[in-house]
Amino acid sequence: MPKKFYLTTPLYYVNDVPHIGHSYTNILADCVARFKRLEGRDVFFLTGTDEHGEKIARAAEAAGETPQAFVDRISPRFRELWAALGVSHDDFIRTTEDRHVRTVAWVLGRLKESGDIYAGEYGGFYCTPCETFWTEAELKAQPGAGSRLLCPSCARPVEPLREKNYFFRMSRYQAELVRHIEMNPGFIRPEARRNEILSFLKGPLNDLCVARPKSRLSWGIPIPFDPSYVTYVWVDALINYVSACGLGLDEGRFGKWWPADVHLIGKDILRHHTVIWISLLMALKLPLPATVLAHGWWTVRGEKMSKSKGNVVDPHRAIEAWGRDAYRYFLLREVPLGQDGDYSETALSQRYRNDLANDFGNLVNRTLSMVHRYFGGHIPDPNRAGGESPLKGQALELGPRVRECMDQYLFKESLEEIWKVVERANRYVEETRPWDLAREKREAELGLVLYGLCEVVRILGVLTEPFLPDTARAIDVMLGADLKVGGRWESACRWGSGRPGQRLGSLAILFPRRETDG
Ligand code: MSP
Repeated sequence: MPKKFYLTTPLYYVNDVPHIGHSYTNILADCVARFKRLEGRDVFFLTGTDEHGEKIARAAEAAGETPQAFVDRISPRFRELWAALGVSHDDFIRTTEDRHVRTVAWVLGRLKESGDIYAGEYGGFYCTPCETFWTEAELKAQPGAGSRLLCPSCARPVEPLREKNYFFRMSRYQAELVRHIEMNPGFIRPEARRNEILSFLKGPLNDLCVARPKSRLSWGIPIPFDPSYVTYVWVDALINYVSACGLGLDEGRFGKWWPADVHLIGKDILRHHTVIWISLLMALKLPLPATVLAHGWWTVRGEKMSKSKGNVVDPHRAIEAWGRDAYRYFLLREVPLGQDGDYSETALSQRYRNDLANDFGNLVNRTLSMVHRYFGGHIPDPNRAGGESPLKGQALELGPRVRECMDQYLFKESLEEIWKVVERANRYVEETRPWDLAREKREAELGLVLYGLCEVVRILGVLTEPFLPDTARAIDVMLGADLKVGGRWESACRWGSGRPGQRLGSLAILFPRRETDG
């Protein structure tokens, strides 16, 4: 297994504070990062903020601030949210940082030298909310376009543009791009997104405008060979994936981490990541990332979130009401990766009550409280009864099954595998009725039953960590932390790490009843 694992999230625009949609990408990424660390891999998990461009310049102006003061004020709101959610990124890059600005200049210089950038005349349209150039043909191809020209991505009005500009010869890389996507089925995931890009690439690919004249927009990174232009914000932002690991500045570091193992993104920015970014890398003759993984969108009661509708959900509020593990669990469990999901307090409260409190919390609580009640808080000896716990087989298969799912980025399915074991263990409690065994003083059998349940709880405590980090930590403490000595992954794949006689820590309720819990 290769040791290093490099994963990224998009850089978030700082024109506004983060909402649940943004938190989704980072929770998925955090889950992957934690899982890879659990497997023993050396992980570099990158996130950050996208701070240049027209959209930000306008937002700063509307707030009556300089762009720099504005981005300095909003960027920390993203960091705060990641801390509140337990997101374990290793680096947070801002596109206004010197390390990034230098790499962008380095990349543009290289592309100019290689003849991949040329000067020309641009005539087309620009969507500021998406920071995207569109041709008239693309706008007209929209169903029902008529005479109103709207952005094909966000359906807002676009602005006509005619200007001298610099272009990246993206068309040069079209054939190579198609070949790469066709030869590497896992490169764009899920499959439906791969097909979307392949069909987009059936048409001709235009060269890409890579600059904005300073006379129109000054908030950007100067083009090194023409200071009257700044870098197009998408080209600027995409380069973060290589600037953060040292391209052009620290070759040792760059060689260690690049190429990325996965870029996590939302489906709306798929073309930017699979067409613009990949052709830029091809032009730079750099290795390509292994996977671009596009997730779906979250709506709220069936509607797209927007400030004007007043339906934007603040993740801090949800965390306060349900706790961050429940919030993470809901987002990871509710929809299969790639599909859209609908966020509602009702759906979250059902997951909280059923899956977390009644299934998982109950299993941990009843198991450990019986060990306290019947064995004075010491792990019982399973050997006095002879025989093997019937839970062992399924529990030992769980690690490999979760790994199989996580190798394919199947978050919901991983949790379903885990919950099969939770349900099986709860059924086992009902079937064996340990309270009757205790009353009838059948201590040897009781020991075997509770030892098996403790082992299941221990294994679940390890394997749920990427999804529910606080809960996993709480289980550690309740079990007495040194039950997990040794490699954590190995300990999840072994039966019998819990030592008879070992003293448990004190008990805590994992998912208490909530005020809001109807
Ligand atoms: N700045 C660019 C990305 C540059 S990456 C080099 C950008 N920023 S964004 O803030 O608009 O969006 C960032 C991510 O948030 C995207 O992946 C987008 O899909 C995701 N989401 C924004 N709203 C969302 C939902 N309502 N639901 C799910 N994810 C959504 O694009």
